Amino acid sequence: MKLLEQIKIGNYTLKNSMVMAPMTRSRANFDGIVGDNTVLYYTQRVSAGLIISEAINISKQAIGSPLTPGIYTSEQISAWKKITQAVHEKGGVIYAQLWHTGRVGHSLVKNGEKPVSPSPLAIEGQQHFTSEGMKDYETPRELSIEEIKNIVQDYKQAAINAMEAGFDGVELHSAFGYLPNQFLAESVNQRNDQYGGNTENRNRFVLEIMQEMIKAIGSDKVAIRISPTSTYNSIIHQNPLEQFTALIEDLNKMPLSYIHIMNVPFPADKFPLYPANSVETFGKLTQHKVIANCGYTKETGEEELEKGIAKLISYGTLFLANPDLPKRFELNAELNQPDRATMYGGQDQGYTDYPFLNQ
Ligand SMILES: Cc1cc2nc3c(=O)[nH]c(=O)nc-3n(C[C@H](O)[C@H](O)[C@H](O)COP(=O)(O)O)c2cc1C
Repeated sequence: MKLLEQIKIGNYTLKNSMVMAPMTRSRANFDGIVGDNTVLYYTQRVSAGLIISEAINISKQAIGSPLTPGIYTSEQISAWKKITQAVHEKGGVIYAQLWHTGRVGHSLVKNGEKPVSPSPLAIEGQQHFTSEGMKDYETPRELSIEEIKNIVQDYKQAAINAMEAGFDGVELHSAFGYLPNQFLAESVNQRNDQYGGNTENRNRFVLEIMQEMIKAIGSDKVAIRISPTSTYNSIIHQNPLEQFTALIEDLNKMPLSYIHIMNVPFPADKFPLYPANSVETFGKLTQHKVIANCGYTKETGEEELEKGIAKLISYGTLFLANPDLPKRFELNAELNQPDRATMYGGQDQGYTDYPFLNQ
């Protein structure tokens, strides 16, 4: 089975081609510090060839949701050290997913600070979870050029901090409508300066972050996640083919460890210009190893690898509910079902108590 074959990513040989997808679990404390239950959660899943951490806030400003972890204070970095050490002791490889939520937040979870974005346009048709329940999104504050440059530096510092915390690499979360994705999309980015107005300018923020992170932590340690067809968080591209083709061509000039492509379903009647299959369309353009994601099973994951475009498959909910997923695939064993009620927030239930096969 290709899913169980070894593969090289950057300088690491992974024990199989199955990746644990990044998953926010909202179990840090109020200071964004992860605890011992998180050490257990990740080490339970160490049979994944690669673990990508939950999204980690790069700064205080980056926070969008309560109880999500950070990597910008020494206490936060020390807490992550325990996790990377434990994962390494058990022979695992772990990347940190770096996160700035931009406009996907609320002043109620940001100490009264307004969310920020390339342009002052609110997310419509969705609400945000806050300490006072679900709330409509606020109109974000438009970032100045100086602030944008500072955020690029925050990503660079977060990448340095991730290395200090013992992570094997970093993945830029440029998917699902968070800040880098906001810069890529016309529905959010209506700037007329060097960060908006045309394809090249909309890509600039992402490319600058990637360049800075590579300069800071070295080649083959930096990766990116994209979701060209996701409409979540009011992301609409006029021409995703043009936008992401240009992005991938520029990323091809950089020494990345992988590109993680989310193949998100979308209403095809509403978006006739959207490519039907992002892994196929954009995977073919990249020179980097492709991790494919969204809705794969053992069978469809194996079929995807057989096609040859994607070299690895990432699994979200299946890894959440099955700490020993590779073993279960190998033995064709039954799978635990994920419990949606305990996905975000809570204690050990639905976090570290999913049974292993022999339990
Ligand atoms: C509880 C939960 C939290 C998630 N948090 C993140 C996240 O922090 N970063 C991210 O890029 N994707 C996040 N995702 C999306 C997953 O990485 C993945 O793309 C999604 O679950 C689809 O893959 P699957 O069909 O294998 O579950 C999350 C998904 C779930 C279920």
